[in-house]
Amino acid sequence: MGIKYLGHSCFEIETNGKKILIDPFLEANPEYKPEEIYDIFVTHGHGDHLGSAVEISKTTGAPVTAIFELAHYCSKQGIRTYGIGLGGWHNYSWGRAAAVPAFHSSSAPDGSYAGCPCGYVFEIQGQTIYHAGDTCLSSEMKTIGEYYQPDLAMLPIGGYYTMDIEQAVKAAEWLGVSAVIPMHYNTFDAINVDITEFERQIREKGKLPIILKINQELG
Ligand code: NI
Ligand code: MN
Repeated sequence: MGIKYLGHSCFEIETNGKKILIDPFLEANPEYKPEEIYDIFVTHGHGDHLGSAVEISKTTGAPVTAIFELAHYCSKQGIRTYGIGLGGWHNYSWGRAAAVPAFHSSSAPDGSYAGCPCGYVFEIQGQTIYHAGDTCLSSEMKTIGEYYQPDLAMLPIGGYYTMDIEQAVKAAEWLGVSAVIPMHYNTFDAINVDITEFERQIREKGKLPIILKINQELG
């Protein structure tokens, strides 16, 4: 399995030649060319997460998985969607995924109601990965830790709209993960952080910070 950071909260995960995209905000990464994408996951309707999901779906044929109302907004643009709710596992050709709670807001680009925001837990080739989307620190992370037992978490650390560094470190503890990829920082002025501070605090808890540069790949 390969995980590539595409900037902000966007990741490409590749497994057995199949690629999935999460929160494809490609404005932060204009050089990236989405190819051989099997599935697109969107955590909520804000522009920095929905991003180019509809356009990528049109060019690659990959369906968009999102919370029901947001998926409905996308399907009205003429693409294939899976409109799901927070809850059970959904099976895909490369593994399975479940939508989990995130505490934030969500609206579509036209201002319409886009349902609740979410995070995702992915099970791919025996690895469990949690992408938190935009959220504050919440006791849900204890539930996610206990029930899903993620190996790796992608957590927002920029503050202002989401958790900050200190809270993301607490989230990592509650999740019981051994490694964290920070996201949702340094894209805009409001979410600028000192990334060395995140590294220091997460190492202090005996966990591995995985700081990826844009287009850098892990494993
Ligand atoms: Ni947001
Ligand atoms: Mn955001």
